[in-house]
Amino acid sequence: MKQIKIGNITDIENKRSRVIFIGDLEIALFKLSNGEIKAIENKCPHKAGKLSEGIVCDHHVFCPLHDWKIDLNDGQVQDPDEGCVVSFHVEVDSESGDLILHLADEAYKAS
Ligand code: FES
Repeated sequence: MKQIKIGNITDIENKRSRVIFIGDLEIALFKLSNGEIKAIENKCPHKAGKLSEGIVCDHHVFCPLHDWKIDLNDGQVQDPDEGCVVSFHVEVDSESGDLILHLADEAYKAS
């Protein structure tokens, strides 16, 4: 498991997203209206829409291409569609506000 500092909580406005790259991996970060940070792979399991460009409602994102609804907690596509996108745990340092991405070793391919 790798832990990678990816920025600070102040870098993202509420209800906005940001894209980061870790090697070949493109990750969409979302800051929810309650300030929570969520991270999923920035690639819809349907036809690879950029989920970072989707509309966030509560803890779901709607893909900008065909409106699939994806849970930002676990990456699960919601009924009536099926599938899953990889989700990641992001820890927020309580003192500095730094964002620490927890990344399984097998998910990381350095370019
Ligand atoms: S590419 Fe996301 S719903 Fe089709």
